[in-house]
Amino acid sequence: MPSSCIIINIQQLVNVREQSTLLKGAAMAELPCIENAFLLLEDGTIAAYGAMYELELKVPQLPKHVIDAQGSTVLPAWCDSHTHLVFAASRENEFIDKLKGTSYAEIAAKGGGILNSAQKLSNASEEELFNLAWQRLKEVSRLGTGAIEIKSGYGLTVAAELKMLRVIKKLKQQSSLSIKATFLGAHTYPLQFKNNHQGYINSIINEMLPVIAADKLADYIDVFCEDGFFSPQEMAQICHAGKAYGLQPKLHVNQLNSIGGIEAGLKANAISLDHLETMTDIDISLLSNQATSKTSQQTICTLLPTAAFFLRMGFAPARRLMDAGCAIALASDYNPGSSPSGNMNLVVAMSCIQMKMLPEEAINAATINGAYAMGLDNELGSITIGKKANLIFTKNIPSLAYLPYSFGTNLIDKVMINGYFID
Ligand code: NIG
Ligand code: FE
Repeated sequence: MPSSCIIINIQQLVNVREQSTLLKGAAMAELPCIENAFLLLEDGTIAAYGAMYELELKVPQLPKHVIDAQGSTVLPAWCDSHTHLVFAASRENEFIDKLKGTSYAEIAAKGGGILNSAQKLSNASEEELFNLAWQRLKEVSRLGTGAIEIKSGYGLTVAAELKMLRVIKKLKQQSSLSIKATFLGAHTYPLQFKNNHQGYINSIINEMLPVIAADKLADYIDVFCEDGFFSPQEMAQICHAGKAYGLQPKLHVNQLNSIGGIEAGLKANAISLDHLETMTDIDISLLSNQATSKTSQQTICTLLPTAAFFLRMGFAPARRLMDAGCAIALASDYNPGSSPSGNMNLVVAMSCIQMKMLPEEAINAATINGAYAMGLDNELGSITIGKKANLIFTKNIPSLAYLPYSFGTNLIDKVMINGYFID
């Protein structure tokens, strides 16, 4: 594609912002759009936009390359800020066990779950893992994902955690999507450390983190803070160590239990606290106080409705969090155990259907707030001059609400990454 191109006849250009800010509370329902719009791209980034009637005025010299959107609606590509995309094998046998009545926690306690994935991953080569993850990246990019965070956490040994992180680094280098890497060595305790938690934490701190920092293998550090996994105190210790290496926390809390993960996560200045299915009133007021206080800290609540759906759990209290002034991001949690789908269109639909988010709120949460939850807000998540042209072109739809309304239908016509349509 030539360095400059103009897209015309866009039915609706969605999430157009002169400047982007993190959206909290009531602001999440405001989704600025331009009807019958054009969009000018230069070198894969957004250079100008406006209504078609302003085209001559705003773009006096049209570039030769013209794309007629023919009534497509154009949105910023999805920013999926929480995934476990690198894994060696699916776990549909556990899915069957769950259908027969075994719980997620029971499966984990029996050495299934994360440990099962770690076992499979230890036998897979870096190349195999890369190829599998590459296919998944292709699949989600066709579904409109333009930026993605990927965690380690199925390694659980020094060698295997580093192997996973090297795979993510290679994905970063070779993919045109924007990718962030998160070190999740503290996903569960490996069997040999079942009764020696400090031993495994020491391995994370003294053996894994120094190499990860030296080889620039991660952008964030994560901990799975739950009963039977990591306590808030253990999480605090790991976050503290990560910070010394420049890694900001991005944490799994309150999926299965409310055990103080939110308080500890806020104290650790997490960029996001993710899951939040199991919440007390105190948890919500802690998040509310942080979101509405004047401090510069901005911790985002990242909700993962397809994981709640797949585990047949209650959904996170999205409405209460927004009413309390919080910033919400939506992500897929793509992983073989609790969300074997990276389809952000389904995430958006499920957020509306099950968590009563309005379409505008869900789209903001899956674009601009998702970009913030990965530190990519300067380059993605809204139609803003200078941001990357990572865009979704929809099929013809009667309105934006039609996207979550007609869940399960693929309404994506084309996806553009850095100004290029993907195949
Ligand atoms: O975010 N719950 C912890 N981590 C993942 C699931 C991991 C797995 O079951 O493999 C999650 O849901
Ligand atoms: Fe997760």
